[in-house]
Amino acid sequence: MSSNDTYHVLLCCESRQDVDYFTSLLRARGPGVSIRTRGVGSLAELRECIDDGIWELVLTTEGQRDLAARNVIAAARDAAVPVIYCGVSVTNEEVDELLLAGARDVLRRGQGPRLFHAVSREISAFRSRRALETLRPRYDEALRRCELLLEAADEAIAYATDGVHLHCNRAYARIFGFDAVGDLEGVPQLDLIAPDHQEEFKEALRRYRDRTDETVTIAITAMRTDGRRFPARFELARTNYEGEPCMQVVVHGGALSGRPDVPVLTEEATVEQIVPRAHGVAAIIAPDRREVVRVEQAWKEYSLGAQMVIALRDVSVSIADGEFMALAGPSGSGKSTLLNLIGCIDTPTRGSVMITGTEVSNRTPDELADLRARTIGFIFQTFNLLPVLSAWENVEYPLLQNKELKKAERRERVGHYLELVGLGKHSKHRPNELSGGQRQRVAIARALAARPAIVLADEPTANLDHKTGEGILELMKSINQEEGTTFIFSTHDAKVMAMADRVVVLSDGEVVGERHKI
Ligand SMILES: Nc1ncnc2c1ncn2[C@@H]1O[C@H](COP(=O)(O)OP(=O)(O)OP(=O)(O)O)[C@@H](O)[C@H]1O
Ligand SMILES: [Mg+2]
Repeated sequence: MSSNDTYHVLLCCESRQDVDYFTSLLRARGPGVSIRTRGVGSLAELRECIDDGIWELVLTTEGQRDLAARNVIAAARDAAVPVIYCGVSVTNEEVDELLLAGARDVLRRGQGPRLFHAVSREISAFRSRRALETLRPRYDEALRRCELLLEAADEAIAYATDGVHLHCNRAYARIFGFDAVGDLEGVPQLDLIAPDHQEEFKEALRRYRDRTDETVTIAITAMRTDGRRFPARFELARTNYEGEPCMQVVVHGGALSGRPDVPVLTEEATVEQIVPRAHGVAAIIAPDRREVVRVEQAWKEYSLGAQMVIALRDVSVSIADGEFMALAGPSGSGKSTLLNLIGCIDTPTRGSVMITGTEVSNRTPDELADLRARTIGFIFQTFNLLPVLSAWENVEYPLLQNKELKKAERRERVGHYLELVGLGKHSKHRPNELSGGQRQRVAIARALAARPAIVLADEPTANLDHKTGEGILELMKSINQEEGTTFIFSTHDAKVMAMADRVVVLSDGEVVGERHKI
């Protein structure tokens, strides 16, 4: 019998006999369910049991002293564990009062079937709530990941409903001459069509409405905000955006879209041997290595109401091509914040960040997205694979955005990196058919397949058991040695730190130490 078939019930009763009474009452009523109970003798014991996280429901009688029903109900409610009151006799007023205090149900003693029904209902609701709580962060990260992929896409993509734009990616904003993605929200689709072609576009919208299972394509003259016109092909298809049905618009434009200059990775940057820093610790770079990251006197401040949180204070660090480097430090020391600055997900409040020789502080969000897409690969703590795609498709997905990449080369790359992470035989498996370590390996292959100069990994082993985590680190290390990719990862774990060639230690937003492998 799995633990899901076992109900874990805490009993707050006056006597041992009561504990036995309720236990046998529940057991008699629950075929196919095993009932595990524990009698609790004090409020402190109740709190301790609740903290264990095993117990799913509290059943209380009238109680006395500190175990009086009100105290029990308050303690269970505070911990979001359901509580059912079962008393010898209760008046209507008392029922109201107990429910208001937080009891999920109030019953009279002797109502065996009702009691079992209430227990079973509350436990299943409790399990659903708990499952939702664990799914929520994963869902949020998957959304963030999708957003990053959309942002990195070369294709101009927008979502619209009732003829108005809901959201678009930066390629779409740019092709129509908008500075920022947000500027397009709420803009009518017709505003992007040359006036003398708007009737044709309306006709395409009507076709879209009538043909429910087809993509509607129209070649038409589009118009930028500056009034310039260009030939474009619009593809209209049905999709969902943030859970609501809507229209997906993909635009293939003329030559006007032009990319801003992006840094060329092969360019040699001048490398100083010692980077000066305000706080004493020198970052030494081998003179024959190109510098890929330079953070100089960076501060990151967040205002939380009237309070100012300083996440990074005067951090300077220089990282050379091909390093295998760890950012270490206690929780809240600023590791993720620093990784986000290096990953161009965020910009410093003061100071500067240079990636492959390009200053990022004064760049527009679009330019940052470009730099990110071309230079940086991310590995997330929760893997962030798309659940409906196989391992192969997950690695291939970001490459599909790169139209310059020929199909044969794309396939060759996906195959190469899946082999490299030891998953050649698992390419058809979906994430739920892979272990945690295998999923993280798919994520590594995905990050590498775009051939980024730098791979950033925020606590890549935090969701893995120790042995699997060590295997992942060894794999990253061997890729670092064989392919020369720079790895920068954060960790709490001393054993993981020990595998890095260089460790930069943060505490309270400052670099407090650094060691190099001797
Ligand atoms: N968006 C934000 N708003 C306000 N404060 C923030 C924000 N992001 C981070 N902080 C604060 O900045 C500090 C550094 O946070 P950060 O997430 O970088 O730490 P960390 O070293 O990655 O911690 P952990 O090991 O727990 O992941 C913390 O005090 C945190 O509360
Ligand atoms: Mg962190």
